[in-house]
Amino acid sequence: MAINFGSLSIVAARDDLLYTSDGRELIDLFNAHGTTWLGHRRREVHDALARQMDQVWITGGLPTPAVPAMRERVARFLPSGLTLASLASTGMEANEQALRVARVHTGRNGALGLAGAMHGKSLATATLGWDNGDGLALPGFQRIAAGPDVDEAVTLAAISAALRGGQVAALYIEPVHGTSFGWEASPAFYHAVRELATLHGVLLVYDEILTGCHRTGTAFRCQAHGVEPDILVFGKALGNGFPVAATAVRASLPLVPHMLLGSTYSNNALAASAVDATLECIEGLDAAALVAAIEAAVLRHLGWAASGDRPRLRGCGAMWVVRFDTPEQALACATSLLAAGVCVGLHGRQMRLLPALTIAPHRLEQACAQVALSVRANLGG
Ligand SMILES: Cc1ncc(COP(=O)(O)O)c(C=O)c1O
Repeated sequence: MAINFGSLSIVAARDDLLYTSDGRELIDLFNAHGTTWLGHRRREVHDALARQMDQVWITGGLPTPAVPAMRERVARFLPSGLTLASLASTGMEANEQALRVARVHTGRNGALGLAGAMHGKSLATATLGWDNGDGLALPGFQRIAAGPDVDEAVTLAAISAALRGGQVAALYIEPVHGTSFGWEASPAFYHAVRELATLHGVLLVYDEILTGCHRTGTAFRCQAHGVEPDILVFGKALGNGFPVAATAVRASLPLVPHMLLGSTYSNNALAASAVDATLECIEGLDAAALVAAIEAAVLRHLGWAASGDRPRLRGCGAMWVVRFDTPEQALACATSLLAAGVCVGLHGRQMRLLPALTIAPHRLEQACAQVALSVRANLGG
């Protein structure tokens, strides 16, 4: 179910605002699935892309100055011990890349993911996480039951059992389930997962495509967990809307040609310049403080929905999910918000708030107040 825009379209965007064909302004809490992290049409990213467009767009892997400059910037941004393997065009592709690295490195075929996680929509990545009801299956791939309704110890025991056969190359973790009610386990869970992966010689992949680039405060959520993954995948915010994602690998892990790093569009000069400019802007901001202020504003208005036996709101930082009982309620809420001038994300019976890091505080206040009103009105009994 998608928000019905009718004959309306988005004709322009700037910073945290979308402009509609009927002349209205919408405060954007959707941000194209969390990509426009520094706001729409961020000037510095625009200028970097414009400069690069006047030089060279893509060289099919032939050297350009843009790529080493981007690599230096990414190296400074990554947690220590990780190194950029390759840029891809989408998160799904970067996760596929991680899988190839893990398979070649371990000589095993299998992969594990947690039910409800989102890793992409290719055959392999879709099989690893969130079940969209298409019955997809791949030999050696398993989804482990996890989430707010499953005891963490049960999930850990199932992971442990699945790893015992020695067939698994990679264990995928989405540190905050952005497509499944914002679920996050306790830090002890992630430490136990790390230990299990090490014990069984399995590469631990942290999919930070949504949580990366400070969305939850720290540059990456694994840092908040105190966990060192073997592979870190990130995207979305990385190009501030330019289609790009990245796979970073533990520096001690050898990258070999069999891992088939890259594809036609990977590491193109435009993507590299978008990443370089986006990370440069992030470096110039106090991202942790901005994220903390966003979290405080969301909780001021919606904190009531985060408590109780069945919390309606889950998340952290600049990543929040509101859960309704039915998709119809979620749709009604998102539609009423649209009429009130706020754009939110919608996924089944979940409504997702992914404000930009740079959202103007008064607009965040205004939008959160409106969201709180509409959520109360649409939650039903
Ligand atoms: C955590 C996570 N991983 C992977 C993906 C897939 O990325 P893409 O849509 O760029 O292929 C998404 C997309 O929503 C995501 O949220």
